[in-house]
Amino acid sequence: MTRGWYSRKVFPRVLDWSMKQAAFGPLRESLLAQASGAVLEIGFGTGANVPFYSSGIDSVAAIDPNPGMVSIARSQIPNQPSLVNQVKWIIASGEALPFLNHSFDSVLSTMTLCSVPKISLAIQEIHRVLKPGGRFLFLEHGQSPDGSVRRWQNILTPYWKHIGDGCHLNRPMAELIQAQSWAVPSLKTFYLPGVPKPFAYFYQGCAVKSESIPG
Ligand SMILES: C[S@@+](CC[C@H](N)C(=O)[O-])C[C@H]1O[C@@H](n2cnc3c(N)ncnc32)[C@H](O)[C@@H]1O
Repeated sequence: MTRGWYSRKVFPRVLDWSMKQAAFGPLRESLLAQASGAVLEIGFGTGANVPFYSSGIDSVAAIDPNPGMVSIARSQIPNQPSLVNQVKWIIASGEALPFLNHSFDSVLSTMTLCSVPKISLAIQEIHRVLKPGGRFLFLEHGQSPDGSVRRWQNILTPYWKHIGDGCHLNRPMAELIQAQSWAVPSLKTFYLPGVPKPFAYFYQGCAVKSESIPG
């Protein structure tokens, strides 16, 4: 995919600053604590999750379609010695994951599904590459249940998409994720304090692929 200058050069630097805000730290930490084994991270971005990967991880496949993100993310890895030999970088999109069925124990997505153009396809792909019993761990922002906030999300999204490199504020994340057949044993929704409400409604949870459903 050809990406423009803003997307490759400017946006990764803005994102690097915004995604490493302290408020996200505890959320990333509690999500990453549930990851284990062979992990796939979709939309690795500039590596904001790197400090939170723990020792229970065997390998990390880091995918992102934007090479500008990957070059910043690579520079984070030496700060996390346990990951140095474990990360494999792949320039790819969530809608076409270059992996066989049942390849991963955990798939992680943090603030990525808002930006994936074909979100339902990406969720199908995540389901496909997870092993039976594998976990999809997500921390995503999206559609608010409050009418007045939702109205602003719908008004702002067509403009925000250009600033936020494809980011939608108004996606009904729980509904989109639950469209796949898996159990969702944990789902928390909340407004992130200190952030304007149209940008602040978060969905954090874990979806487990059934042991009995193939593909
Ligand atoms: C807001 S950033 C979040 C980055 C990172 N996950 C984090 O938590 O800091 C969204 C990321 O999604 C990536 N992205 C955009 N389209 C994508 C796609 N089709 N498949 C996978 N990732 C995509 C962007 O390049 C960007 O790195």
